[in-house]
Amino acid sequence: MKAKNCLIFGGSGQIGRHLIRKLTKNNYRVTVVTRNIHQKAHIIKTQGNAGYIEIVEANIFDESKIRKLIQNTDICINLIGILYEKKGSSFKNIHTLFPSILSKLCKQYNLEHFIHLSALGINDIKDSKYAKSKLDGEKEILKNFPLSTILRPSVVYSVDDNFTTNFMTLLNRLPIFPLYYSGKTKFMPIHSSDLVEVIFNIIHKNIYSQIIECVGPETISLKEILNRLLKLIDKKRLLVPMPLLLGKLSAEIFQLFPNPLLTQDQLRLLKYDNIISKNYKTNSDIGYSAKCFFDIEVEKYCYMWREGGQFSRNRSIEEKNEN
Ligand SMILES: NC(=O)c1ccc[n+]([C@@H]2O[C@H](COP(=O)([O-])OP(=O)(O)OC[C@H]3O[C@@H](n4cnc5c(N)ncnc54)[C@H](OP(=O)(O)O)[C@@H]3O)[C@@H](O)[C@H]2O)c1
Repeated sequence: MKAKNCLIFGGSGQIGRHLIRKLTKNNYRVTVVTRNIHQKAHIIKTQGNAGYIEIVEANIFDESKIRKLIQNTDICINLIGILYEKKGSSFKNIHTLFPSILSKLCKQYNLEHFIHLSALGINDIKDSKYAKSKLDGEKEILKNFPLSTILRPSVVYSVDDNFTTNFMTLLNRLPIFPLYYSGKTKFMPIHSSDLVEVIFNIIHKNIYSQIIECVGPETISLKEILNRLLKLIDKKRLLVPMPLLLGKLSAEIFQLFPNPLLTQDQLRLLKYDNIISKNYKTNSDIGYSAKCFFDIEVEKYCYMWREGGQFSRNRSIEEKNEN
């Protein structure tokens, strides 16, 4: 069978890396578009066998260049997303305008699949620019190319994430950790490999379903996630509920930094539980229930944040054995 060509935008990120590995192992050829080949080529190239990966450096709004790439493509996957705005990268440009352009081109060149990564819970979140831009992007895509598949994941984690890894770094360094909204916000974390399994099967088995909510097997509050991470890295820290006013003030200060830990928009997002809505199909409904459990997966890489690294004593296991 002739290998199919997949064009991936945002392939150097967390989900992209897992996806490149999965696709190339299964005889798909991938072309990955990046803004900076010098910084990202080594990350992208090392995810698959030579000959299966092509890297193209491009401005994603250079329509003539993107058009040429799409002409030779069977499947297009958009993994580009941002958590905060920067000069030249607004939520509207990245989450609405770009997916709109891309979906029009996919329709024009009659692609087999256009898969777009959106985010869970965006229907209900009215006061976040991130959520609004993602929702507007979805509407544009479904208008331009109704055969598209939109995935709405809860928080995605793996050794390559900016979620568990950043939290473990912060928990290591800070003696006290602030809990926004008392840490009550609920998540259904999905491991990157489970999400990639969903994407792969949509492509491989030609599943067409407009919006799919993608979640892991557990519902965990933010406070519980932090407590589990603390246990995994064998640290004791004080988790302190932060008054909302103080939370807003800290986000106001953080967002002055080039790579902010928290922005006002993210603080507003945290107000809402990040769980399935029951209004759309889920990954389980299309036959791909997530298999990875949070503690078991994070256990595989959390030692990097433990005193003594991989040679550290895991007190919780030792205590369990003693009992
Ligand atoms: N991770 C999660 O927990 C999560 C949860 C819900 C939804 N999602 C969505 O899933 C998608 C993939 O997530 P991810 O975690 O893999 O993302 P990621 O690790 O942050 O990577 C996204 C990629 O997008 C590209 N990118 C970032 N800013 C850009 C810009 N201004 N212009 C052009 N390209 C830009 C970057 O590629 P280059 O630097 O190579 O150009 C980057 O590697 C995103 O749409 C995200 O919103 C993720």
